[in-house]
Amino acid sequence: MREFLDVAVKAAREAGSFLLGTRNSSLVIEKKGMVDLVTDADRKSEKLIRDIIKVEFPNHRFIAEEGTSARGDSEYKWLVDPLDGTTNYAHGFPIWCVSIGLLKGNDIIAGCVYNPSLDECFTAEAGSGAFVNGQRIRVSQTANLDDCLLATGFPYDIRTSPDDNLKEFTAFYKKAQAVRRAGAAALDLAYVACGRLDGFWEFKLSPWDIAAGILLVKEAGGKVTSYSGDAYDVHKGQILASNELIHNDMVRILKKVRG
Ligand code: IPD
Ligand code: CA
Ligand code: CA
Repeated sequence: MREFLDVAVKAAREAGSFLLGTRNSSLVIEKKGMVDLVTDADRKSEKLIRDIIKVEFPNHRFIAEEGTSARGDSEYKWLVDPLDGTTNYAHGFPIWCVSIGLLKGNDIIAGCVYNPSLDECFTAEAGSGAFVNGQRIRVSQTANLDDCLLATGFPYDIRTSPDDNLKEFTAFYKKAQAVRRAGAAALDLAYVACGRLDGFWEFKLSPWDIAAGILLVKEAGGKVTSYSGDAYDVHKGQILASNELIHNDMVRILKKVRG
């Protein structure tokens, strides 16, 4: 399985270096929705990643946010966000990353989240633990929500949908030490994995936002479920990730707020 992760890391690092080098140049910014941006750098990063993975694994399936896809009957499927945190990137706010996950059937077997601004490369393989730049990482030990730093994000349909995560945000902010909305879901998950955050919830996410991060949290000893505490589905986009110790408390709050 090592070779899969090696290729993921190579692709994430090359795309990350490209994005870091491009971030201060004049970006072509388009809107996919009222508040949903895409830049030419997102698309170039995606092509770079696709080219690297295609050379190594020409038969594997591949799905990436900006539309590149390769279908077929391979049991392997790459889920790629070429730039997670595009809004931050476009504003020069240095919290963004590249996220690459690999599924075998329904199982996430390898994942890499690379943050070029800090040169932090988070990696995991199923059954082998989670790492940042080769150092083992583990989730936090904080058991009391009062002492927890949580994170979340808000969907791009926030202006039109009443299901906007604001009630959940309020409820958690009144129970936790603090809640952050940093703007890159894959990094939020990586930070739960390494204990900088204690828990994370978000919905209306896409598989490429969360595939790699889910594996990081699980391999770091954390717990990942749906909001109700049931098994997550990477394709359903609703996710609750934590250090496990606060998981039931978070499920309880989500149930109370969402009914
Ligand atoms: C977004 C970020 C953000 C989350 C959004 C995602 P993008 O990804 O991960 O934190 O709240 O739901 O869509 O569009 O920057 O790749
Ligand atoms: Ca994303
Ligand atoms: Ca993206």
